Amino acid sequence: MRKIVAWTGSPMNEELAAPGQQAFEELKAYAGELVGKQQVNSSDNLLGEIVHAHLEEGGFSVDACTVAVVSLLLGGLETTIQMLSATVASLLLNPSALARVQSDRASRDTAVDEAFRWANPSAGLYRLVTSDVQIGGTDVKAGSMVYLCIAAAHFDEQAYARPEVFDLDRQGGQHLGFGLGPHYCVGAPLARIEVRAALDALLDRFPRIRLERPLDFRYGARGFVQHGTEELPVLLN
Ligand code: HEM
Repeated sequence: MRKIVAWTGSPMNEELAAPGQQAFEELKAYAGELVGKQQVNSSDNLLGEIVHAHLEEGGFSVDACTVAVVSLLLGGLETTIQMLSATVASLLLNPSALARVQSDRASRDTAVDEAFRWANPSAGLYRLVTSDVQIGGTDVKAGSMVYLCIAAAHFDEQAYARPEVFDLDRQGGQHLGFGLGPHYCVGAPLARIEVRAALDALLDRFPRIRLERPLDFRYGARGFVQHGTEELPVLLN
């Protein structure tokens, strides 16, 4: 999974392309096997539902169904891992916010949303331009590839007052952490539940959680698409 994420995160890096593509093919073959088993013997689980919805209800091909399964795995795993570590890292780097969420559980959803803005794991997205367009006074030709930097949008002073501050009382200014428009993240509600549940478990079990040493936390560390720490060194007790 990491090889695929590294490749898609830096698609211009030729060294990452071959291992990334190979890992993608292996994952696709594995997902294809799982889909094949469901065709023969359908189970009463999420995979069974997905296969049923694609093949019997939707009339999609087996290949399209397999790609959908791969998309869910790729879209749902690394992002959620990074989102949880981003939320915990944001709180550990902002002790007053950490103290507040420890005593006020209701503020934890706000903390997750502010972490989405402040330390969002989706640093940016690529788009293929389908027709000539002007954006912010710049002409962009059809056929170009553009990179939409969500991290930059999240620190736009016109959208967020004092954007550098991790602020649990921030008003308005929705984040773009799950994208926007027709490709808005299909897993957003699940991801919110997962991150909130993990945060509750961690804070309730380890109220003295703190950083073990200064954190290396910067944009670009994991390529252009994903953002986050390689490790989150904490002391629990
Ligand atoms: C905190 C965790 C997550 C983050 C930060 C995240 C982020 C995103 C973003 C930014 C997009 C838009 C991509 C685009 O416009 O090109 C997206 C789409 C998508 N996400 Fe998530 N996601 C998360 C969790 C999940 C989960 C848990 C699942 C699956 C269960 C999932 C599955 C998908 C899929 C399949 C798409 C493509 C939707 C489409 O193209 O119509 N994501 N996600």
